[in-house]
Amino acid sequence: MSNSEQTLSIIKPDAVERNLIEEIKNIFISNNFNIFKEKKIQISKAEAEEFYKVHQSKPFYNDLCEYLSSGPIYVMILEKENAVIENRKLMGSTNPKEAEEGTIRKKYGLSIDKNSVHGSDSVDNAIIEIDFFFK
Ligand code: CMP
Repeated sequence: MSNSEQTLSIIKPDAVERNLIEEIKNIFISNNFNIFKEKKIQISKAEAEEFYKVHQSKPFYNDLCEYLSSGPIYVMILEKENAVIENRKLMGSTNPKEAEEGTIRKKYGLSIDKNSVHGSDSVDNAIIEIDFFFK
């Protein structure tokens, strides 16, 4: 039985600004992810607040939402067997300083805020996040 799964990936403003969209897409493709849907958009702060509402009690919530809405982002539905966990492995730790060699955040991340990519953290959240951007 196939475990093919979908997850949501976002190339964040810091990486879009540095023209890294194609480079990061190629990392997903060479790691056997299928990019099922993709688009470049800019969201409002209110939309970012909705997207990141699981973090609303955190001290970094306001900065996080300011940041995600500060410039264009590139959102993708990625498909692969066990896509959620495979994407998280490929992204590396949230803090680029702690990210493993060979991961996207190790290679491109600037800081814990400007960590270049977001990926859904569970299958349930992937469904919610895909719906948010591609309904
Ligand atoms: P992301 O995977 O997009 O999910 C929430 C984001 O909050 C996270 O990546 C980080 O960029 C950002 N963030 C800022 N500060 C922290 C923190 N202390 N712990 C976790 N995430 C943080």
